[in-house]
Amino acid sequence: MEEQSKPTVSCFYTVIAVFWNKFETMAMKLRAYAKINFGLRILGKRRDGYHDIETVFHKIDLFDELEIAPSSTLEFNCGSAKLPRDDSNLCLRAAIALQKYSGVSKGARISLTKRIPIAAGLGGGSSDAATTLKGLSALWNLDLTVHELHQLSTALGSDVPFFLDGASAYATGRGEILQRLDLEIPYWILVATPPLSISTAWAYSKFIENHQPPTGMERFTRAIQNPAEGGMQNDFEPIVFASHPEIKQLKGSLLKAGAVQALLSGSGSSVFGLFERQEDARQASGQFPKQYTCSLTEPSFNPDLIRSEP
Ligand code: C5P
Repeated sequence: MEEQSKPTVSCFYTVIAVFWNKFETMAMKLRAYAKINFGLRILGKRRDGYHDIETVFHKIDLFDELEIAPSSTLEFNCGSAKLPRDDSNLCLRAAIALQKYSGVSKGARISLTKRIPIAAGLGGGSSDAATTLKGLSALWNLDLTVHELHQLSTALGSDVPFFLDGASAYATGRGEILQRLDLEIPYWILVATPPLSISTAWAYSKFIENHQPPTGMERFTRAIQNPAEGGMQNDFEPIVFASHPEIKQLKGSLLKAGAVQALLSGSGSSVFGLFERQEDARQASGQFPKQYTCSLTEPSFNPDLIRSEP
């Protein structure tokens, strides 16, 4: 496991920008990947109302699809009835923030195909927002720096900056202070999401005031390398399990099905299990009621090595 010394702008988006300049009439298709949290500690409440946390974000093989095409106005459409269409929608908020910041008067037609369950601890909305920022920067030929994109994304949500670049990161602060990681996870990751939405703001509001120091990146990531030792913890588990015992049962089912470790992702409702054998993971996913959403990520998955179609 190596720490990357400097965040790099994905060359993928540079390629998109070049491609875009050549074929201006075509829409670009982008993938917005979901994440899980390999552990999450709440370190205490801050003066600004947010909480300091310590976590490791890790992208999994589950994604929303964004199609972005030129238009004179800003338009958004999505097949999912659960998403707001007004400017509380994170894609539109990202687009409006970018218009305001850069002073462009151009629009875009943004179409979102939603696959990541909503309010499920998988960062779907944040990933859509980060991907919109990057896609529109390319469409509008904005030459934004990593710092500018980071500032814009932090204003949209605490975990939005993570989705700008890289497959895994150790995060502190609100979740926006990132140290990129090269994580090779030698397990099948099964994510199971019950038909339950959990508000992150609600989950934080139930946290009993307590200040603790961070573990530090080295110790925190060591627990990920040895999941069977049980060192990974998520401080939202006692809060969420107390109100939703079925999520605690879900974690128990994953462990019973052979997961070496199972943990709540973010503030839930998703729980992921790490499996040594694909067969065990597949069998585990087959046991859940049909209202549950399951996704399976193969060992060493890294979305940076996959190119979405232009
Ligand atoms: O930043 P984001 O919009 O995702 O956060 C949603 C809500 O979750 C915030 O309004 C805040 O109440 C809570 N939150 C927090 N500490 C964090 C992240 C979020 O208290 N680090």
